[in-house]
Amino acid sequence: MKILSNILPSTLSRTLIGTHALRCVHCGTVQGKVDRLFQCSECSELLEVAYPDWAAATPESGQRLKKLWQERRLSTAPDDVSGVWRYRELLPHVAPHNIVTMSEGNTPVMLLKKSARALRLPHLLVKHQGMNPTGSFKDTGISAAITMAKAEGFSWVGCASTGNTSASVAAYAAHAEMRSLVFLPAGQVSSGKLAQALEYGATVVQLLTDFDGCLKLLQEVVQRFPACLLNSVNPYRLEGQKTVAFELMEQLNWSVPDHVIVPGGNLGNSSALGKGFLEMLELGLIATLPKVSIIQAAGANPLVRTMRENSGKELVRINAETRATAIRIGNPASWRKAVAVLKNTGGTTEEVSEEEISVAKAELGAEGIGCEPASATTLAGLKKLVRSGFVKTSDSVVLILTGHMLKDVDYMLQAQGKHFLGPMEADAGAVVKTLERIYADN
Ligand code: F0G
Repeated sequence: MKILSNILPSTLSRTLIGTHALRCVHCGTVQGKVDRLFQCSECSELLEVAYPDWAAATPESGQRLKKLWQERRLSTAPDDVSGVWRYRELLPHVAPHNIVTMSEGNTPVMLLKKSARALRLPHLLVKHQGMNPTGSFKDTGISAAITMAKAEGFSWVGCASTGNTSASVAAYAAHAEMRSLVFLPAGQVSSGKLAQALEYGATVVQLLTDFDGCLKLLQEVVQRFPACLLNSVNPYRLEGQKTVAFELMEQLNWSVPDHVIVPGGNLGNSSALGKGFLEMLELGLIATLPKVSIIQAAGANPLVRTMRENSGKELVRINAETRATAIRIGNPASWRKAVAVLKNTGGTTEEVSEEEISVAKAELGAEGIGCEPASATTLAGLKKLVRSGFVKTSDSVVLILTGHMLKDVDYMLQAQGKHFLGPMEADAGAVVKTLERIYADN
């Protein structure tokens, strides 16, 4: 411990790295020194990365960026191949040798055909962030945040997690030859995600509390133990995660969809997605915004309640419960940022039941796409938004799938029924007879 303290920076002391500033999302104060918790020195609220130089941007600079990013697709340099750092003009400036990348981003956009037919939506797409190196959208944010931590001289990084962040932090720390410390709610993380964190060499602490308790504890611990906090309260996380919006727009040939729908847990991802779109509008890369809507599990719905009960003024904290363990969060850190995204883009929130999540997840699987339960909230929520008329049948919709289906295998095995046969004798006659009986109708 002593040795570690000696080689660590005392604070994240620089306000401006290149041309960015850290600004409070609540009172707007531009920060001088930034503490280990990334809190505003005036009001303790969250910070965001701002880029004062962008005020000088012209319509031509937007066109030049599009061309430059397109050209980088032919490059084999790691920072050009990365679906985060390819867009580095819109990220904090870092020296190339500090960039920690594993070719994150670069995730596919796919048509959702059966669901589109069922919902009578002509343009229904998914962007599958589960196709990232560790199987979730977290990798784009962790690439950015760990790069900044490395540039600041940290050798340890830490996170609290429902599973995916820990897998990503562990992998990127290992890749950067850094150490990782992860706090998990004991017994509430899928075995796949836990196995990833262990395999990648993280120090894993299982705690007898929920995610919200883990994050609170980590915030205490990083003030005494020299690890850089990589949860999405770290504003650099969101800078990495906002690039999904840039990549999506390139993939759609810069044609803005009417709706983008994303699951909500700690609310960093929806905040980042919205930030990405708002920045593209500011820079003239797009002329309109999609409505960004956020879906929560009914048992983990603090944002839905916050919007319903006080229009986003005060967070309604809850005790969260859902089988979609990735989003089992009752006290989301980035709620203010998410409320701003809903208001600025005209999006909405919706809650979905455990049954609705499970059905939607099976439907995505039946299209050959698959995702983890938290991601399936998007399709479940879309169905409700179509029913309520918020999404119209002429609208184009993109669902952000956040995690790979293999993240939570137990959830799927518990749901299998009709098509899962046996154990039975290894006998062709018996097998054919069973198939004929079950599939007599088709
Ligand atoms: N989908 C998946 C698969 C997630 O793992 C998470 C969050 C979310 C959606 C919600 O994103 O928190 O930015 O609103 N997982 C975090 C974790 C909490 O620790 O892995 P959010």
